[in-house]
Amino acid sequence: PPPSPPGPLADQSAKLVNDAAHPYQPLRPGDQRGPCPALNTLASHGYLPRNGVATPAQIVTAVQEGLNLENSFARFLTYSTFLVNGNPITNLMSIGDKTSGTGQDPPKPATVAGLDTHNNCEGDTSMTRADAFFGDNHSFNESRFQNFIKYSEKYGAGKYNYTVAAQLRKFLIQDSIQNNPQFSLVSPRLFTAFAESVFPINFFIDGRDTSGQLDLDVARSFFQNMTFPPNFFRRAGAVSNVGQNVVTDLLPNFKPGYNAHGVNTFTVDSTSATLTEPCLRYTNFVNKNIKQLYPNPTGVLKQALTINLQFLYEATVAANESCTQVFPYGH
Ligand code: HEM
Ligand code: MG
Repeated sequence: PPPSPPGPLADQSAKLVNDAAHPYQPLRPGDQRGPCPALNTLASHGYLPRNGVATPAQIVTAVQEGLNLENSFARFLTYSTFLVNGNPITNLMSIGDKTSGTGQDPPKPATVAGLDTHNNCEGDTSMTRADAFFGDNHSFNESRFQNFIKYSEKYGAGKYNYTVAAQLRKFLIQDSIQNNPQFSLVSPRLFTAFAESVFPINFFIDGRDTSGQLDLDVARSFFQNMTFPPNFFRRAGAVSNVGQNVVTDLLPNFKPGYNAHGVNTFTVDSTSATLTEPCLRYTNFVNKNIKQLYPNPTGVLKQALTINLQFLYEATVAANESCTQVFPYGH
Protein backbone atom coordinates (compact mmCIF):
# COMPACT_ATOMS: atom_id res chain seq x y z
CA PRO A 1 0.00 0.00 0.00
CA PRO A 2 1.09 3.60 -0.58
CA PRO A 3 3.14 5.04 2.33
CA SER A 4 1.83 7.89 4.49
CA PRO A 5 2.86 11.43 3.56
CA PRO A 6 5.62 13.13 5.56
CA GLY A 7 4.75 15.48 8.41
CA PRO A 8 5.88 19.11 8.83
CA LEU A 9 9.56 20.07 8.83
CA ALA A 10 11.15 20.10 12.28
CA ASP A 11 13.23 23.14 11.33
CA GLN A 12 11.28 25.75 9.36
CA SER A 13 13.91 28.47 9.39
CA ALA A 14 15.14 30.29 6.32
CA LYS A 15 18.20 28.59 4.85
CA LEU A 16 20.31 28.26 1.72
CA VAL A 17 18.52 25.85 -0.63
CA ASN A 18 20.56 26.51 -3.79
CA ASP A 19 23.38 24.63 -2.09
CA ALA A 20 26.21 22.36 -3.18
CA ALA A 21 24.09 19.25 -2.69
CA HIS A 22 21.39 20.63 -5.03
CA PRO A 23 23.06 22.10 -8.12
CA TYR A 24 20.97 23.14 -11.11
CA GLN A 25 21.37 20.71 -13.99
CA PRO A 26 19.94 21.20 -17.48
CA LEU A 27 17.29 18.86 -18.80
CA ARG A 28 18.25 15.57 -20.36
CA PRO A 29 16.16 14.10 -23.20
CA GLY A 30 12.99 12.62 -21.75
CA ASP A 31 13.02 14.58 -18.48
CA GLN A 32 9.56 15.91 -17.66
CA ARG A 33 8.80 19.53 -16.81
CA GLY A 34 5.36 21.13 -16.86
CA PRO A 35 3.05 23.97 -15.83
CA CYS A 36 4.30 24.46 -12.24
CA PRO A 37 7.39 26.64 -11.91
CA ALA A 38 8.01 25.44 -8.36
CA LEU A 39 8.03 21.72 -9.12
CA ASN A 40 10.06 22.34 -12.31
CA THR A 41 12.70 24.19 -10.29
CA LEU A 42 12.76 21.60 -7.51
CA ALA A 43 13.33 18.86 -10.11
CA SER A 44 16.09 20.80 -11.85
CA HIS A 45 17.91 21.15 -8.51
CA GLY A 46 17.41 17.53 -7.46
CA TYR A 47 14.92 18.13 -4.65
CA LEU A 48 12.68 15.98 -6.83
CA PRO A 49 13.92 13.23 -9.13
CA ARG A 50 15.51 15.06 -12.05
CA ASN A 51 13.48 13.07 -14.57
CA GLY A 52 10.32 14.80 -13.28
CA VAL A 53 8.57 11.59 -12.20
CA ALA A 54 7.91 11.51 -8.45
CA THR A 55 5.91 9.94 -5.65
CA PRO A 56 3.47 12.03 -3.59
CA ALA A 57 5.75 11.78 -0.54
CA GLN A 58 8.70 13.07 -2.59
CA ILE A 59 6.63 16.04 -3.75
CA VAL A 60 5.51 16.95 -0.22
CA THR A 61 9.08 16.67 1.05
CA ALA A 62 10.46 18.76 -1.82
CA VAL A 63 8.01 21.68 -1.55
CA GLN A 64 8.56 21.78 2.21
CA GLU A 65 12.34 21.45 2.15
CA GLY A 66 12.97 23.66 -0.88
CA LEU A 67 10.31 26.36 -0.44
CA ASN A 68 8.72 25.96 3.03
CA LEU A 69 5.18 25.23 1.85
CA GLU A 70 2.95 24.46 4.85
CA ASN A 71 2.39 20.72 5.45
CA SER A 72 -1.41 20.37 5.17
CA PHE A 73 -1.54 22.60 2.07
CA ALA A 74 1.33 20.65 0.51
CA ARG A 75 -0.49 17.38 1.16
CA PHE A 76 -3.75 18.79 -0.18
CA LEU A 77 -2.21 20.04 -3.44
CA THR A 78 -0.24 16.85 -3.88
CA TYR A 79 -3.01 14.29 -3.30
CA SER A 80 -5.68 16.18 -5.22
CA THR A 81 -3.31 16.35 -8.18
CA PHE A 82 -1.99 12.82 -7.77
CA LEU A 83 -5.46 11.23 -7.70
CA VAL A 84 -6.24 12.71 -11.12
CA ASN A 85 -2.86 12.70 -12.86
CA GLY A 86 -0.75 10.03 -11.14
CA ASN A 87 -0.60 6.23 -11.24
CA PRO A 88 -2.11 4.82 -8.02
CA ILE A 89 -0.56 1.39 -8.59
CA THR A 90 3.07 2.46 -9.10
CA ASN A 91 2.63 5.55 -6.88
CA LEU A 92 4.31 7.76 -9.53
CA MET A 93 3.28 11.01 -11.22
CA SER A 94 4.83 13.06 -14.01
CA ILE A 95 5.16 16.79 -13.28
CA GLY A 96 4.81 17.34 -17.05
CA ASP A 97 3.48 15.24 -19.88
CA LYS A 98 2.22 11.67 -19.96
CA THR A 99 5.18 9.25 -19.86
CA SER A 100 5.84 5.53 -19.70
CA GLY A 101 8.00 6.43 -16.68
CA THR A 102 4.92 6.16 -14.47
CA GLY A 103 4.50 2.47 -15.37
CA GLN A 104 1.60 0.51 -16.75
CA ASP A 105 -1.67 2.46 -16.75
CA PRO A 106 -4.75 1.37 -14.82
CA PRO A 107 -7.81 0.69 -17.02
CA LYS A 108 -9.47 3.57 -18.90
CA PRO A 109 -11.13 6.02 -18.44
CA ALA A 110 -8.21 6.69 -16.05
CA THR A 111 -5.68 8.89 -17.83
CA VAL A 112 -2.50 9.08 -15.64
CA ALA A 113 -1.33 11.87 -17.92
CA GLY A 114 0.76 14.10 -15.65
CA LEU A 115 0.36 17.72 -14.57
CA ASP A 116 -0.07 18.94 -18.15
CA THR A 117 -3.57 17.41 -18.07
CA HIS A 118 -6.10 20.15 -18.67
CA ASN A 119 -8.95 21.15 -16.41
CA ASN A 120 -8.55 19.51 -13.06
CA CYS A 121 -5.48 21.16 -11.53
CA GLU A 122 -4.06 22.82 -14.64
CA GLY A 123 -6.50 25.28 -16.13
CA ASP A 124 -7.11 28.60 -17.80
CA THR A 125 -5.89 32.07 -16.76
CA SER A 126 -2.34 31.03 -15.81
CA MET A 127 0.06 33.93 -15.48
CA THR A 128 2.89 32.59 -17.64
CA ARG A 129 1.32 29.72 -19.58
CA ALA A 130 -1.33 30.03 -22.30
CA ASP A 131 -4.86 28.65 -22.03
CA ALA A 132 -5.09 25.09 -23.39
CA PHE A 133 -7.34 26.28 -26.24
CA PHE A 134 -4.35 28.12 -27.73
CA GLY A 135 -2.33 24.89 -27.98
CA ASP A 136 0.28 24.77 -25.21
CA ASN A 137 -0.89 24.94 -21.59
CA HIS A 138 2.44 24.13 -19.94
CA SER A 139 5.45 25.84 -21.56
CA PHE A 140 6.72 29.22 -20.42
CA ASN A 141 5.12 31.85 -22.67
CA GLU A 142 7.13 35.03 -23.19
CA SER A 143 4.23 37.23 -24.18
CA ARG A 144 2.30 36.29 -21.05
CA PHE A 145 5.40 36.99 -19.00
CA GLN A 146 5.69 40.40 -20.68
CA ASN A 147 2.17 41.06 -19.45
CA PHE A 148 3.26 39.95 -15.94
CA ILE A 149 6.04 42.56 -16.22
CA LYS A 150 3.64 45.20 -17.51
CA TYR A 151 1.30 44.71 -14.53
CA SER A 152 4.23 44.72 -12.09
CA GLU A 153 5.38 48.02 -13.56
CA LYS A 154 1.91 49.54 -13.53
CA TYR A 155 0.80 48.46 -10.04
CA GLY A 156 4.01 47.45 -8.23
CA ALA A 157 6.68 49.95 -9.26
CA GLY A 158 8.49 47.18 -11.12
CA LYS A 159 7.98 44.39 -8.56
CA TYR A 160 5.32 41.66 -8.29
CA ASN A 161 3.34 42.02 -5.03
CA TYR A 162 -0.19 41.28 -3.70
CA THR A 163 -1.64 44.40 -5.35
CA VAL A 164 -0.23 43.33 -8.70
CA ALA A 165 -1.43 39.75 -8.10
CA ALA A 166 -5.01 40.98 -7.69
CA GLN A 167 -4.95 43.29 -10.73
CA LEU A 168 -3.33 40.64 -12.91
CA ARG A 169 -5.83 37.95 -11.88
CA LYS A 170 -8.70 40.31 -12.70
CA PHE A 171 -7.16 41.02 -16.12
CA LEU A 172 -6.45 37.35 -16.92
CA ILE A 173 -10.04 36.35 -16.25
CA GLN A 174 -11.41 39.16 -18.43
CA ASP A 175 -8.85 38.38 -21.12
CA SER A 176 -9.84 34.71 -21.29
CA ILE A 177 -13.56 35.54 -21.31
CA GLN A 178 -12.93 37.84 -24.29
CA ASN A 179 -10.50 35.67 -26.26
CA ASN A 180 -10.87 32.00 -25.36
CA PRO A 181 -14.09 30.45 -26.73
CA GLN A 182 -13.54 27.45 -24.44
CA PHE A 183 -12.66 29.42 -21.33
CA SER A 184 -13.53 27.72 -18.03
CA LEU A 185 -12.78 28.59 -14.43
CA VAL A 186 -14.61 26.23 -12.09
CA SER A 187 -13.65 24.04 -9.11
CA PRO A 188 -11.13 22.51 -8.58
CA ARG A 189 -9.06 24.69 -10.95
CA LEU A 190 -10.76 27.81 -9.54
CA PHE A 191 -8.97 27.29 -6.22
CA THR A 192 -5.50 26.79 -7.67
CA ALA A 193 -5.89 29.87 -9.90
CA PHE A 194 -6.39 32.18 -6.94
CA ALA A 195 -3.75 30.53 -4.74
CA GLU A 196 -1.14 30.57 -7.52
CA SER A 197 -1.53 34.31 -7.87
CA VAL A 198 0.09 34.82 -4.46
CA PHE A 199 2.50 31.85 -4.52
CA PRO A 200 5.30 33.77 -6.27
CA ILE A 201 5.23 36.40 -3.50
CA ASN A 202 5.08 33.84 -0.72
CA PHE A 203 7.74 31.46 -2.05
CA PHE A 204 9.94 33.01 -4.75
CA ILE A 205 11.26 35.92 -2.64
CA ASP A 206 14.55 35.20 -0.86
CA GLY A 207 14.00 34.26 2.80
CA ARG A 208 16.20 37.09 4.03
CA ASP A 209 14.02 39.67 2.26
CA THR A 210 10.75 40.56 4.03
CA SER A 211 9.66 43.32 1.61
CA GLY A 212 6.92 41.28 -0.07
CA GLN A 213 8.17 42.58 -3.43
CA LEU A 214 9.27 39.97 -5.98
CA ASP A 215 12.03 41.06 -8.34
CA LEU A 216 11.17 40.33 -11.98
CA ASP A 217 14.53 38.73 -12.81
CA VAL A 218 14.01 36.38 -9.88
CA ALA A 219 10.51 35.66 -11.19
CA ARG A 220 11.94 34.80 -14.61
CA SER A 221 14.53 32.55 -12.98
CA PHE A 222 11.73 30.36 -11.56
CA PHE A 223 9.05 30.68 -14.24
CA GLN A 224 11.26 30.30 -17.31
CA ASN A 225 14.67 28.96 -16.31
CA MET A 226 13.52 26.55 -13.55
CA THR A 227 16.44 27.73 -11.44
CA PHE A 228 16.84 29.11 -7.94
CA PRO A 229 18.70 32.45 -8.09
CA PRO A 230 22.36 32.15 -6.94
CA ASN A 231 22.59 31.81 -3.16
CA PHE A 232 18.77 31.55 -2.80
CA PHE A 233 17.35 31.11 0.72
CA ARG A 234 13.89 29.60 1.20
CA ARG A 235 11.39 31.71 3.18
CA ALA A 236 11.34 31.68 7.00
CA GLY A 237 8.38 29.75 8.45
CA ALA A 238 5.98 27.53 6.53
CA VAL A 239 2.94 29.23 4.92
CA SER A 240 0.37 28.49 2.23
CA ASN A 241 -1.85 31.04 0.47
CA VAL A 242 -1.48 34.01 2.82
CA GLY A 243 -2.40 37.21 0.96
CA GLN A 244 -5.03 35.57 -1.25
CA ASN A 245 -7.68 37.77 0.41
CA VAL A 246 -6.12 40.78 -1.37
CA VAL A 247 -6.91 39.05 -4.67
CA THR A 248 -10.44 37.96 -3.79
CA ASP A 249 -11.22 41.41 -2.35
CA LEU A 250 -10.70 42.93 -5.79
CA LEU A 251 -13.07 40.39 -7.36
CA PRO A 252 -15.95 40.19 -4.87
CA ASN A 253 -18.54 39.33 -7.52
CA PHE A 254 -16.64 36.67 -9.42
CA LYS A 255 -18.50 33.36 -9.63
CA PRO A 256 -17.16 30.12 -11.13
CA GLY A 257 -18.24 29.66 -14.73
CA TYR A 258 -17.30 29.25 -18.39
CA ASN A 259 -17.90 30.55 -21.91
CA ALA A 260 -20.94 28.52 -22.95
CA HIS A 261 -21.22 29.63 -26.62
CA GLY A 262 -17.87 31.12 -27.64
CA VAL A 263 -16.11 34.27 -26.53
CA ASN A 264 -17.94 36.73 -24.30
CA THR A 265 -20.62 34.25 -23.24
CA PHE A 266 -19.56 33.81 -19.62
CA THR A 267 -22.10 31.68 -17.80
CA VAL A 268 -22.13 30.98 -14.07
CA ASP A 269 -21.84 27.28 -13.18
CA SER A 270 -23.97 26.94 -10.09
CA THR A 271 -22.89 23.30 -9.60
CA SER A 272 -19.27 24.37 -8.97
CA ALA A 273 -18.00 25.01 -5.47
CA THR A 274 -17.15 28.66 -4.89
CA LEU A 275 -13.99 29.84 -3.15
CA THR A 276 -15.85 29.92 0.16
CA GLU A 277 -17.06 26.30 -0.15
CA PRO A 278 -14.01 24.09 0.48
CA CYS A 279 -16.12 21.16 1.64
CA LEU A 280 -18.23 21.21 -1.52
CA ARG A 281 -15.00 21.30 -3.49
CA TYR A 282 -13.81 18.19 -1.66
CA THR A 283 -17.09 16.31 -2.05
CA ASN A 284 -17.53 17.13 -5.74
CA PHE A 285 -13.89 16.34 -6.45
CA VAL A 286 -14.21 12.86 -4.96
CA ASN A 287 -17.72 12.00 -6.14
CA LYS A 288 -17.43 13.50 -9.63
CA ASN A 289 -13.83 13.96 -10.79
CA ILE A 290 -12.34 10.83 -9.23
CA LYS A 291 -15.40 8.62 -9.68
CA GLN A 292 -15.44 9.52 -13.38
CA LEU A 293 -11.83 8.40 -13.84
CA TYR A 294 -12.25 5.30 -11.67
CA PRO A 295 -15.89 4.17 -11.86
CA ASN A 296 -15.38 0.58 -10.66
CA PRO A 297 -11.88 -0.13 -9.35
CA THR A 298 -11.03 -3.53 -7.93
CA GLY A 299 -8.19 -5.22 -6.07
CA VAL A 300 -4.95 -3.31 -5.47
CA LEU A 301 -6.21 -0.37 -7.54
CA LYS A 302 -9.24 0.05 -5.29
CA GLN A 303 -7.06 -0.30 -2.21
CA ALA A 304 -4.58 2.33 -3.45
CA LEU A 305 -7.37 4.77 -4.38
CA THR A 306 -9.04 4.34 -1.01
CA ILE A 307 -5.79 5.07 0.82
CA ASN A 308 -4.96 8.10 -1.34
CA LEU A 309 -8.51 9.40 -0.82
CA GLN A 310 -7.94 8.98 2.92
CA PHE A 311 -4.74 11.07 2.65
CA LEU A 312 -6.68 13.71 0.69
CA TYR A 313 -9.42 13.84 3.32
CA GLU A 314 -6.90 14.16 6.16
CA ALA A 315 -5.19 17.05 4.35
CA THR A 316 -8.57 18.71 3.66
CA VAL A 317 -9.54 18.59 7.33
CA ALA A 318 -6.12 19.82 8.42
CA ALA A 319 -6.25 22.75 5.97
CA ASN A 320 -9.93 23.73 6.30
CA GLU A 321 -12.78 23.35 8.71
CA SER A 322 -14.16 19.88 9.27
CA CYS A 323 -15.72 18.48 6.12
CA THR A 324 -17.68 15.22 6.15
CA GLN A 325 -15.72 12.36 4.60
CA VAL A 326 -17.18 10.64 1.52
CA PHE A 327 -16.46 7.04 0.50
CA PRO A 328 -17.01 6.44 -3.22
CA TYR A 329 -15.68 2.88 -2.95
CA GLY A 330 -17.22 1.93 0.40
CA HIS A 331 -15.57 1.79 3.81
C1 HEM B 1 1.00 26.20 -11.31
C2 HEM B 1 3.71 27.77 -7.68
C3 HEM B 1 3.31 23.51 -5.44
C4 HEM B 1 0.87 21.84 -9.23
C5 HEM B 1 1.70 27.00 -10.47
C6 HEM B 1 1.86 28.42 -10.64
C7 HEM B 1 2.62 28.86 -9.62
C8 HEM B 1 2.94 27.73 -8.80
C9 HEM B 1 3.07 30.29 -9.38
C10 HEM B 1 1.23 29.27 -11.73
C11 HEM B 1 2.00 29.32 -12.98
C12 HEM B 1 1.34 30.25 -13.95
O1 HEM B 1 0.26 30.77 -13.68
O2 HEM B 1 1.90 30.46 -15.01
C13 HEM B 1 3.84 26.74 -6.76
C14 HEM B 1 4.56 26.84 -5.51
C15 HEM B 1 4.44 25.64 -4.87
C16 HEM B 1 3.64 24.79 -5.74
C17 HEM B 1 5.34 28.07 -5.05
C18 HEM B 1 5.01 25.19 -3.55
C19 HEM B 1 5.62 25.98 -2.72
C20 HEM B 1 2.60 22.70 -6.26
C21 HEM B 1 2.23 21.35 -5.94
C22 HEM B 1 1.55 20.88 -7.01
C23 HEM B 1 1.48 21.93 -8.00
C24 HEM B 1 2.56 20.60 -4.63
C25 HEM B 1 0.94 19.51 -7.22
C26 HEM B 1 1.55 18.39 -6.98
C27 HEM B 1 0.68 22.88 -10.11
C28 HEM B 1 -0.10 22.80 -11.33
C29 HEM B 1 -0.05 24.06 -11.92
C30 HEM B 1 0.75 24.89 -11.05
C31 HEM B 1 -0.83 21.57 -11.87
C32 HEM B 1 -0.73 24.51 -13.21
C33 HEM B 1 -1.93 25.38 -12.89
C34 HEM B 1 -2.17 26.39 -13.93
O3 HEM B 1 -2.81 26.07 -14.96
O4 HEM B 1 -1.75 27.55 -13.75
N1 HEM B 1 2.37 26.58 -9.33
N2 HEM B 1 3.31 25.49 -6.87
N3 HEM B 1 2.14 23.01 -7.51
N4 HEM B 1 1.18 24.15 -9.98
FE1 HEM B 1 2.36 24.78 -8.50
MG1 MG C 1 -2.83 26.78 -16.90
